Amino acid sequence: MREFNEQTLTDAVIQRVANTPDPRLKEVMTSLIRHLHGFVRETRPTWDEWMAGIQFLTQTGKMCDDKRQEFILASDTLGVSMLVDFINYGKHAKATESTVMGPFFVEGAPDVPLGGSIARPGTAGRTCIVTGSVKSAEGRALGGATLDVWEGGDDGFYDVQKPEGTNLRGRIRADGEGKFWFRSIVPVSYPVPTDGPVGKMLEATGRHPMRPGHLHFIIDAPGHRRLVTHLFTKGDRYLDSDAVFGVKESLIVDFKKIDSRAEAEKYRVEAPFYKVDYDFVLVPAR
Ligand code: BEZ
Ligand code: FE
Repeated sequence: MREFNEQTLTDAVIQRVANTPDPRLKEVMTSLIRHLHGFVRETRPTWDEWMAGIQFLTQTGKMCDDKRQEFILASDTLGVSMLVDFINYGKHAKATESTVMGPFFVEGAPDVPLGGSIARPGTAGRTCIVTGSVKSAEGRALGGATLDVWEGGDDGFYDVQKPEGTNLRGRIRADGEGKFWFRSIVPVSYPVPTDGPVGKMLEATGRHPMRPGHLHFIIDAPGHRRLVTHLFTKGDRYLDSDAVFGVKESLIVDFKKIDSRAEAEKYRVEAPFYKVDYDFVLVPAR
C-alpha cells in the first residue's frame, strides 16, 4: 500500500527500517519513530509550532562549536543526561554516587601536587582545603588514583567562559594510601549558559537557570569504573531546584569554616578558611 493515513503511517515508517542490518540500530530507530509519532499525535502541532521546534533544534546546532555544546545543555536541562547516567552508572550500595559531567571539563588540565592549589594566586573566593581518600567497595585504599577536579569561579563563570586561561582545574594523584588534599575556593551557585536557545526554553517555561555550588570530580583507578561526580555545598539555596537535576543527598557536603591558626598553618593558608573531607568509593570494572 502506498497511501497512508494518520493511523497507518507509523507502522509503515517502522516497516521501512525493518531491514536495518545492525540489530541495535534497528531497535533504536523503531523506538524513535514510534515515540516521535506518538509525541506528534499527542500534541497535534500546527505547522508553525512544528517549525518552531525545528528552529529550536537548528539554533541549538548552530550554537555548538569546540567550546560550546548546546545539545548537551538541552539534554542536561531536560533531565535526559541524568536519566542516561541512572541507567548506566546506577546505584551501588557501597559506592559513591555519580552525577552529570556538564560541558566545562577540559582534557589535559595541569598536574597539581598533593597540597597544591587548583586556584591561581589572586583568585577571588573563600579559600578551602579539600581532603579525602579513594577506596574500593571493600574498603581497600586505591593508591595512585587520579582525580580531575574543576569548578567555576566566584563570579559564576568557568575559566573556559572567560579569556583568562586555565584556572580552577587540575589533575591530582592520590598518595599510596589513596589519600588526597588540595586547595581551592568554596564553590558558589551559578547559572548554566542562557544566551542560546536553551536559555530561551528555560525562560519560556518559567524555570531559573541556576545550579547549586559544586566541585566537579572525575576519578580513575585501575580495575575500577570511572566515577564522574560532584560535591555540592550544603545550605545552597538551589539544592532543591538544580537546573540540570544533578543533586544527590549523599553528595552534599559541609564546607566547614575553620578559625584555628594552627590548622591554617598546617595547610599553609590563612585563617579563617574552609575545609571539606570526603571519601570516594569506586565500583569494580565490569
Ligand atoms: C556544570 O556543572 O558545569 C554544568 C552541568 C550541566 C549544564 C551546565 C553546566
Ligand atoms: Fe559545574
